[in-house]
Amino acid sequence: LAANNHYKMKNVKIDLASGEYDVQVGEGLLEQVGSTLQALGFRQKAVIITNPWLRGLYGSRLKANLEEVGLETVLLEVPDGEEEKSLVRAGLLYDRLAEVQAERLSPILALGGGVIGDLGGFVAATYMRGLPLIQLPTTLLAMVDSSIGGKVAVNHGRLKNNIGAFYQPRRVMADVAVLRSLPVFEYENGLAECIKYGVIMDAGLFDLMERRLGEIKSGSVEVVEEVIFRCASIKAAVVEKDERDLGLRNILNFGHTAGHGLESVSDFKLSHGRAVALGMMTACKIAEKMGVFPHQGSARVQALISAAGLPVTLPSGITPEQVIAAMQHDKKKAENRLRFVLPRKIGEVFVQPEVDGILVREALEEQIG
Ligand code: NAD
Ligand code: GLY
Repeated sequence: LAANNHYKMKNVKIDLASGEYDVQVGEGLLEQVGSTLQALGFRQKAVIITNPWLRGLYGSRLKANLEEVGLETVLLEVPDGEEEKSLVRAGLLYDRLAEVQAERLSPILALGGGVIGDLGGFVAATYMRGLPLIQLPTTLLAMVDSSIGGKVAVNHGRLKNNIGAFYQPRRVMADVAVLRSLPVFEYENGLAECIKYGVIMDAGLFDLMERRLGEIKSGSVEVVEEVIFRCASIKAAVVEKDERDLGLRNILNFGHTAGHGLESVSDFKLSHGRAVALGMMTACKIAEKMGVFPHQGSARVQALISAAGLPVTLPSGITPEQVIAAMQHDKKKAENRLRFVLPRKIGEVFVQPEVDGILVREALEEQIG
């Protein structure tokens, strides 16, 4: 991590009926967690939830940082993997919280990607009816999306994120220095979400990503921080207007209608970021066919997705018919119509509650590699 004298950061405030909190983005922020908890007034035992790999990289140092300011700290490990986002794992964490005598004001620090953030957040939301939550996202996806906005959940049965709550963190601290250890594959998955924010709401962000993708991919702190800050600002603005996901928050699902279908057809072998990248292209092509989005817009989105290292053609063996069937199953729709978030121009989208299956099929057919 960067030395403290290099410490710079950007701040996004989220103002909700339930209270406000800051999303901090900067290099070296993990070194500031102890002093931040002190400033927020936490005195009771702190609990870090992380996975074994991240413990070695950052968790032990984080624990020492908290102990330096006099906070008694325990670190709980969860094995790595989406399958750990379960009620069984939550139950094991409740047992551990009882053993270490976590109290009502013990802050839970979720140090990890979206899996740890969602699981740790769910446990924080439910143990003793809610312990204060601090999100310490370590993947690009978690920094721009999952750590912000209060959706916490575990998976149950065959469904994802179906047991959960809206439970806002007290602080989000995104230390961009930790992205240096993130595998490129995961970084690219996060870039899909960053491109999404550009298309849905920020043409300037899209331009920035087009112009400076090389620096973004090589991890130039200044530009990566700027991208994360702009994405976090958009997420914050959307969540402020629609915390409970009853309307506007839907636009965050740009690329996710076909994306979810693709993930499910691939039996989740296709990563979420890659599925969203393909789903964004499906939506662009549908909008183009409807005459509401220019071809040049689709071409720009496709070029950026591709330059980011993400796919623009369907994985071999996956057919448009399978994807459509999975989408219809997903939405339990009897009729042949599906809800899509569609672009009008780069920086602006709208929700189309019913898109004709024929257009969806044609769009997907154009994505056969
Ligand atoms: P993840 O949490 O599984 O992390 C990906 C991999 O990267 C893991 O193996 C992890 O150990 C590793 N890793 C994380 N940070 C690292 C670092 N700095 N250095 C090295 N390795 C690191 O995956 P993700 O993409 O961050 O999150 C996906 C999850 O997020 C899904 O469960 C999804 O449902 C959820 N999600 C939630 C929301 C929300 O609003 N709550 C939004 C989007 C996604
Ligand atoms: N990831 C979508 C949302 O937070 O609403």
